[in-house]
Amino acid sequence: MLLEIPGLLNEAQLHKIDEVLASAEFVDGKLSAGSVASQVKHNEEMKAEPQSMELLIRILTSAMAHNATFRSAVLPYRMADPIFARYQPGMTYGDHVDDPLMGHSGQRFRTDVSMTIFLREPHSYQGGELVIGTTFGQQQIKLPAGSAVIYPSSSLHHVAPVTEGERLVALAWIQSYVRDPARRELLYELDRVREHLLHNAPQEEHTGLADKSYANLLRMWGDV
Ligand code: NI
Repeated sequence: MLLEIPGLLNEAQLHKIDEVLASAEFVDGKLSAGSVASQVKHNEEMKAEPQSMELLIRILTSAMAHNATFRSAVLPYRMADPIFARYQPGMTYGDHVDDPLMGHSGQRFRTDVSMTIFLREPHSYQGGELVIGTTFGQQQIKLPAGSAVIYPSSSLHHVAPVTEGERLVALAWIQSYVRDPARRELLYELDRVREHLLHNAPQEEHTGLADKSYANLLRMWGDV
């Protein structure tokens, strides 16, 4: 499932991230790429200083924890340290699939969901669309600052060349309690039905049934 999450970050959070990134050092993105990805990766990434990284992680995890759509669609279990990537004119990231396993030794985890959080307004740069291959063809994504898109980490995707201005994004990879994208999508839709019923008909018998089905499907499919 490819899903947009509008306004994941609010103005204050965007401002704080901007402040941290303004004084951060950016290095060649190839340093963090595997051998295949490094052939097609032409961007820059923030050099992770422990103090500023800790602050950035706190902002992102708090935004995710407060966003009901994110929680319901991703069912997050573990998350890699995010990457902050910058694309100047001429930079691009060709077709690739994200690493299946991330994290340091001893704390390795599987990447199920990839997330791109846009940090610049779309009109401030030319190009730089995130292009994701789906069963319904290629989808081009370029969202307002603060908005995010999530997609299965198994998807083939690329970033179109930036021709003007600067593309700045945060990237996160998450292991979900539910590894199968089709099951996550069913759970997300059932959760929406359940929320709707709980809000509109809390006393109805069918509301209780939907709630029970959701809980027990998550129990059936969830891994920890
Ligand atoms: Ni990628």
